[in-house]
Amino acid sequence: MKHFLWLCDYSKEEIKEIIDLGFQIKKETKAKIFKPYLKHQQLAMIFEKSSTRTRVSFEVGINQLGGNGLFLSSRDIQLGRGEPLKDTARVISRMVDLIMIRTFGQERLEEFAKYSKVPVINGLTDLCHPVQLLADLMTIIEFGKFDFENPQNTTVAYIGDGNNMANSWTVLASKLGFNLRIATPKGYEIDENIKQKALEEAKKSKARLEFLNDPEVAVKEADVVTTDTWVSMGQEEEKEKRIKDFKGFEVDSNLMSLAKKDAIFLHCLPAYRGYEVSEDVFEKYSEVIFTEAENRLHAQKGLMVWLKK
Ligand code: CP
Ligand code: NVA
Repeated sequence: MKHFLWLCDYSKEEIKEIIDLGFQIKKETKAKIFKPYLKHQQLAMIFEKSSTRTRVSFEVGINQLGGNGLFLSSRDIQLGRGEPLKDTARVISRMVDLIMIRTFGQERLEEFAKYSKVPVINGLTDLCHPVQLLADLMTIIEFGKFDFENPQNTTVAYIGDGNNMANSWTVLASKLGFNLRIATPKGYEIDENIKQKALEEAKKSKARLEFLNDPEVAVKEADVVTTDTWVSMGQEEEKEKRIKDFKGFEVDSNLMSLAKKDAIFLHCLPAYRGYEVSEDVFEKYSEVIFTEAENRLHAQKGLMVWLKK
């Protein structure tokens, strides 16, 4: 049995298998072919934080695969009233076939997985958001910006907070071997443990990873530019300070003009215009961004089928 807790546990080959399945199932879904790959399987979805995309994509995904999804907000289940996480894991995993959890610390997710009898999927933690990266990877492949055979031809620039998305891009680049430049304000760099792991992995994959503080240097001649909110869930009290500290890190048309002419822009959403991205950049690339959001559905169907193979 395999969990999906972070991309550090996955090889390039495994990631490719999941993505290939995602594309195959996307094609079938578009042709209105719904094969019951996970017939009668139950997916529990536990949310300790808000969600639009993760909730809808997992629930629709499992239904289209012939199974059923249960939305469990921690506000409504006993977990929110103090029932231990490990008891929650032991109870729920005796009744369902797969569990997705969105929580705070990565250690909560790991504890949950340790006590679960069935595969656990990370639906976002403070540390990483690996299911989002599966969708992002599908999207850059679809828009012709990445192929598994020639990863060194792709340069991704991530601008903004060294948060769960930045950490996840770092791990993905290190596994697949593409070039990644991350530009954060000083003091908002990515997780140090992830950085060290990725740098080690990059020796094998030949990924070029650069950690910078200058967005203009990061974006230069990039194929893909991406960002994320400056105020992640759980950081609401730091909002004012963050907005000041991130001055100069908005992805606007001036910054985009430094990337390759045909570069694309990704955003995991939700997006805050006038902060991490300008309205015009967001709208210019909306087809890419909403394909990326849709790909959450297809990528996660691939993942769920892969985990239950
Ligand atoms: N991108 C993403 O995970 O969105 P939600 O928070 O709406 O699930
Ligand atoms: N970094 C954001 C991602 C939201 C999908 C957060 O954790 O809130």
